[in-house]
Amino acid sequence: MRGQDDRRRARPAAHELARYEELFAARTRGMKSSAMREMMALTERPDVISLAGGLPDTSTFAPELYAKLMSQVAAESTARALQYGPTEGMAAAVDCIVQVMAAEQTVVDPANVIVTTGGQQVIDLVCKALIDPGDVIVAEAPTYPGAVPTFGAYQADVVQIEMDSDGMPIDELESVLDRLAGEGRRPKFIYTIPNFQNPGGVTMSLPRRRRLVEVARERELLVLEDNPYGLLRYEGEPLPTLYSLDASLGTGDDGVSSDLVIYLGTFSKILSPGLRLGWAVAPHAVLEKLNLGKQGADLCSSPMTQLFVSAYFAEPGTGAHPARPAWIEYVEGLRDLYRRRRDVMLQALQEHFGGRASWTRPEGGLFIWATLDGVDTTDLMGRSKGVAFVPGRSAYIDGDSGKSSMRLNFAGVPDEDIREGIQRIAAIVSPDTRLMGTLTGSAQTTSGGAAEVDSGTSGETDDAGLAEVLELPRREVSDPAHPSTRHSLDR
Ligand SMILES: Cc1ncc(COP(=O)(O)O)c(C=O)c1O
Repeated sequence: MRGQDDRRRARPAAHELARYEELFAARTRGMKSSAMREMMALTERPDVISLAGGLPDTSTFAPELYAKLMSQVAAESTARALQYGPTEGMAAAVDCIVQVMAAEQTVVDPANVIVTTGGQQVIDLVCKALIDPGDVIVAEAPTYPGAVPTFGAYQADVVQIEMDSDGMPIDELESVLDRLAGEGRRPKFIYTIPNFQNPGGVTMSLPRRRRLVEVARERELLVLEDNPYGLLRYEGEPLPTLYSLDASLGTGDDGVSSDLVIYLGTFSKILSPGLRLGWAVAPHAVLEKLNLGKQGADLCSSPMTQLFVSAYFAEPGTGAHPARPAWIEYVEGLRDLYRRRRDVMLQALQEHFGGRASWTRPEGGLFIWATLDGVDTTDLMGRSKGVAFVPGRSAYIDGDSGKSSMRLNFAGVPDEDIREGIQRIAAIVSPDTRLMGTLTGSAQTTSGGAAEVDSGTSGETDDAGLAEVLELPRREVSDPAHPSTRHSLDR
């Protein structure tokens, strides 16, 4: 049977590339295939349990509601849905964004918002607006694997700062900034994912948030705050966004506009990545450049999906609190579901890797970051049978650090697949593997033995390595449509 991924072309041969070599822009040399893209192909294979992608579980969305909203948009807004829209986004969608930001306890001026084609486009547009080749971006280590190819495409010099369990250490950041200043270099922006970091799973503490904003103000540096997961908190108290902290110190007369933080949000994790809708909230001058960049990229984001979101946000809830809209109820359901799946994965890790590995315990989001000292997870991925994860290397710019770590998504698959997936990983790691935690600092040292991993293949996360991931039949319960999880938010 022809799978979706069969449509992907093989990599061009060297002689094919040579033919066009002189035509390609220099920036293409910095472009690497995103590990995420490879993962997307894998996740479509029915025989593979994917703990890889950043996927939310879209099978939890009620089909009847989806059909109703689509029909409503089609019937009531035909011409607008099928037409181009404004580059900055439709007012109806911006209104929903203001509501999401309010749920993040952040008041925003709608005039500071631009609607984008996913949060990914914000990263691209920010780089387009700010980065000349060789310019410095400071990022966390590990960082969002999907940002790595974007930074590469703009030929940025990315300096990564290793996180601990409270996120990016700001004293470390200051040392890096001092060193760069000594070289006459001012970073164009600091890139951070403060909540349930992708891939690290850790959250930046409040004191660090405050200090980061102070440092940005002292040194006049922009911060890109990437926050797709803030509303997916499973325990603990929400922390203020960097945007709101900066706005409260700001010089703006409205008290809600930040001077130095560019906020990235998205509907992908609280509703659907298929909509391809995200947003940025940014200082006015920056917003202007993002808008110009977007005009050149895609003119506007889809009016069809903007109107869909608007119709959805107008839906009343069905629960005990009539004033609570359907979208909030849905997010609450996702929290319950993902909390449980997180716990299932933590338990499976304990069962199969206890004493041999370390991993983060996220308070929210989609990911656990596990570290297996002595194991090359890219090789492991190449050897793994019927399970996919993101090798740690893809979260580092140098392509080598993080090689013993892996990102595991607990949100997108049912409990049984989480257990089975972790068991499959354990089955290909030798029993005497010693695992160590970079983020938790909770290194385990049960044995110095080397992992039973084929070291024949090396480093790069490339098509060839991942194409070999593999063969175990997937059990019925893991059907791509996840019938067992449909409408299962209460489980
Ligand atoms: C940290 C982070 N930023 C940005 C994105 C991009 O999301 P989207 O383009 O679907 O909004 C993701 C998706 O996984 C992410 O995890």
